[in-house]
Amino acid sequence: MPYYHVPVMLKEVVSHLNCGPGKIYADCTLGGSGHAKAILERIVPDGLLIGIDQDKDAIANAENALKPYRSNIHFFHGNFIYLWDVLLELNIHSIDGILLDLGLSLHQLESGGRGFSFQRDEPLDMRMNMEMEMNAEYLVNNLAEDHLEKIFREYGEERWSRRVARRILKERRREPIRSSGQLARVVCDAIPRGKSKSRIHPATRVFMALRIAVNKELERLDAFMQRIDTGNGSILKPGARVCVLSFHSLEDRIVKHRMKALEKECVCPPSFPKCVCNRKQVLRMLTKKPQQPTREEINRNPLSRSAKLRVAEKV
Ligand SMILES: C[S@@+](CC[C@H](N)C(=O)[O-])C[C@H]1O[C@@H](n2cnc3c(N)ncnc32)[C@H](O)[C@@H]1O
Repeated sequence: MPYYHVPVMLKEVVSHLNCGPGKIYADCTLGGSGHAKAILERIVPDGLLIGIDQDKDAIANAENALKPYRSNIHFFHGNFIYLWDVLLELNIHSIDGILLDLGLSLHQLESGGRGFSFQRDEPLDMRMNMEMEMNAEYLVNNLAEDHLEKIFREYGEERWSRRVARRILKERRREPIRSSGQLARVVCDAIPRGKSKSRIHPATRVFMALRIAVNKELERLDAFMQRIDTGNGSILKPGARVCVLSFHSLEDRIVKHRMKALEKECVCPPSFPKCVCNRKQVLRMLTKKPQQPTREEINRNPLSRSAKLRVAEKV
């Protein structure tokens, strides 16, 4: 099965990254390699792309799809929070830009065979990285009702989170929940018919919430954003760009919050006669409000509709 994904806001991302020959970038979410290929086209002949993905299938696909650029790319299978270790290993001190394009690829959703979609009946796994310990089946069959409820409410903003969690516990007392199809049926049974004003499938929010919990997506994003520049020993060259495409309001909130924090200079209380924190501005936000796909792109690729792009520049 070929690996596929339609890169979102491709033109905008590439333009913000300010790519040029000889520059060094980290695409921390390779996916179907669409953004990576566009970056590589602009940084050859002597530029370098560090391509990261926690899904082995994405790396295998990229190794094949990006063959013409073999000497300009270094692959790493793992979580993007290890970017700093990868750079250390490569003896690279600073780079010209970072791209995070969060969430799932179309391939993972539609043909990954890991139960990401409620429209298919597959083993309930949902790990992007198959080396992680806990999968969705484990969480659904072992977490306490309150914990499941919290995941559905916080990550999925699911109005019927309590009913869904209760129904899951009832079902798993009868028999373990092992497939995405079985979980989708349980969720649909738990949500009162006709009460939902939303046009989306009733299981959408629960599946998204579970995926976020399995892959610890928000924790990893927050850790990454926090580490972008620790003040001493930045990995960003002056003028380097950080582009983050998010598809969930909680992700966007983290990105905004962390970028804003790095924009601040002194954080001493106003009553202090002089600065003791010695903090310097690290980033300047180039998008005061997140940029969104054009109507034309949304028509062409409806999955892009919730995308939010935030960009910051290293000062
Ligand atoms: C939306 S896709 C990226 C699509 C890509 N930009 C393209 O042009 O095809 C997201 C990818 O990021 C990967 N991913 C998500 N979170 C990750 C993380 N914390 N570390 C590494 N890879 C991650 C997923 O496995 C997936 O392949």
